[in-house]
Amino acid sequence: MAQRPFIVGNWKMHGTRAMLSEARAIDRAAERMVKVEVALAPPFTLIHATRKEAELIGVGAQDCHYAESGAHTGDISAPMLKDSGAGFVIVGHSERRADYGESDEIVRRKADAVIAAHMNVIVCIGETEAQRDAGEAEAVVTAQLAASLPGAENTAERLTVAYEPVWAIGTGRTPTVDDVSAMHRAIRAKLVELLGEAGQSVRILYGGSVKPDNAAELLSADEVGGALVGGASLTAESFLGIIIAAA
Ligand code: G3H
Repeated sequence: MAQRPFIVGNWKMHGTRAMLSEARAIDRAAERMVKVEVALAPPFTLIHATRKEAELIGVGAQDCHYAESGAHTGDISAPMLKDSGAGFVIVGHSERRADYGESDEIVRRKADAVIAAHMNVIVCIGETEAQRDAGEAEAVVTAQLAASLPGAENTAERLTVAYEPVWAIGTGRTPTVDDVSAMHRAIRAKLVELLGEAGQSVRILYGGSVKPDNAAELLSADEVGGALVGGASLTAESFLGIIIAAA
């Protein structure tokens, strides 16, 4: 990994204020882990409090609406997230694509909204098990990437891509290191095709059942610039195990 690895914890729909102690412990430990960039994406309800508790790590959101404001009951806009202390937003997670039918076009509009609000964006892409079994994984993932990428001029500066095979999320199963390397090389090539030389500097995270005991191996794969971690980011103990493996 040429750049500082980026380890992001996605708390998904977990956490009340009682979990702020975990964020605080992660933040305190991050002070000693200068070789790794660490961030947490807690639920919306904890963003402001996490930002206040955690001084060193990045704090972001797990989704946003693409509109700046308006009659969208229950939704949250990118400027609102920035106002609450978020520095980045994850868009296009496969759980949102599956649960809410979010298309690449919707994901792209959300990514555009995040950049317009002067935040960084993590765009998630990944194939299903059926697509992998059919030998379509690379084509599916690179097509998702092309259609989900924001169109702003400064996209490369603000962008992180997270490759998460859907079948590896929360299942304890992971691709082989060779498979991760092959996919990340394909994503890198597509980024360069789409963004020119600037595409070389975009970090590509791997996500899907990353744990303290497999993190070092997964992070050693070609073009892996960090990890997007779900379940293992919920306690400081396991998340720090991954951060240490990345250091
Ligand atoms: O955003 C995180 C991913 O969906 C991975 O989740 O680490 O629980 O498999 P997981």
